[in-house]
Amino acid sequence: MRKKVTVVGAGNVGATTAQRLYERGTIDVVLVDVVEGMPQGKSLDMAESGPVLGIDASIIGTNSYNETEGSDVVVITAGIARKPGMSRDDLLFTNMRIVGSVVEEVVKKSPNAILIVVSNPLDAMVQHAYSVAGLPKNRVIGMAGVLDTARFRTFLAWELNVSVKDVQAYVLGGHGDQMVPLIQHTTVGGVSIKELLTPDRLSSIIKRTQTGGGEIVELLKTGSAFYAPSAAVAEMVDSVLLNQNRLLPCAALLEGEYGISGVYLGVPVILGSNGIERVVELELSSEENAGLENSASGVRELIEAMANAPKS
Ligand code: LAC
Repeated sequence: MRKKVTVVGAGNVGATTAQRLYERGTIDVVLVDVVEGMPQGKSLDMAESGPVLGIDASIIGTNSYNETEGSDVVVITAGIARKPGMSRDDLLFTNMRIVGSVVEEVVKKSPNAILIVVSNPLDAMVQHAYSVAGLPKNRVIGMAGVLDTARFRTFLAWELNVSVKDVQAYVLGGHGDQMVPLIQHTTVGGVSIKELLTPDRLSSIIKRTQTGGGEIVELLKTGSAFYAPSAAVAEMVDSVLLNQNRLLPCAALLEGEYGISGVYLGVPVILGSNGIERVVELELSSEENAGLENSASGVRELIEAMANAPKS
C-alpha cells in the first residue's frame, strides 16, 4: 500500500508541497482547504499531469477532513502569509486559531499521523499544534531549519562558486531574525567556512540568510516564499516515510537539550518513521548558545501572548 500524506492549506506553500509529494510517484496525497473548489481544482490539474509524468499515485482535493483518514503524515500550511512590512509574529492570533482548529480535525481522522507544521510564526504555531494535538512530542515537528539552512547553503555556494551539494551547514534557533547559523559546523568539503571567507563576507551572508524570508516577501509583494519551503517539507516527509534517519534541523520540543526546556526550537534531529527519533546535541560556542537562548526567549514571549490571546 502506498503511503498517504495530507496537506492542509492549498495556497502556494501547500499546493507546491502537494505537487512535490505527488511527483515522488509513491505517495497518495490529499489536499485540503476551506475555499470551495480550490483544492479540488489544483488536485485535478495535478492528477491530469499523471499520464505525462507516469504517475499512478493519487491526488485529491477536498473541503472536508473525511478523505484525510489514516494519513501517515499531515503537513499543516494553513494560515495567512506575510505581506511586505509584516513580521512573522504579526500573524500570531489569526494563524493560531486556524492551526488549532486544523489540528483538532486532523488528529480525529489520523491519530497515528506525524504532524509537520509549516504555518507562521513557525515556532509558536508548532508549539500550539503540540498543545492541541495531544500527541507525543516526537510526532509534532516544525519545518524551518531545513529552509533556513538551504538559504544559507545557497548563498555560500554562490559566493564560493561551488556545488550546493558540498556545502554543509546547520541553521538553528527560531525561524525569525534570531536564527542561529552554526559557523563551526559550516564546511565546504570538510573545510571550515572560516578558512574560506572573510569575516565581513560571512557576516553579510548570515544577515541575508536571517532576513531571507523577508527578501522574498519584498520581491513578491503579495505573499511569501513557497518553492524552497515546499522543497524543505518534502525532504522531511521523505525522511519520515522512508525511515531515512536524516540529520535535519527541525523545530522540536526541547526538554533540557541545549539547556532549554518547554519550548519548540530549531535543533538538529534524527528524522525517521517515528518522527523525531532524537535531538542531536552539537557542541556550540558560547555565542551560539546565547543565540539559542535569545531565540527561546522570543518563542516564550509568543507562547505567553497566545495564552492571553483576545477571544474572537
Ligand atoms: C519564509 C517563510 C515561509 O521564511 O517563513 O520564507
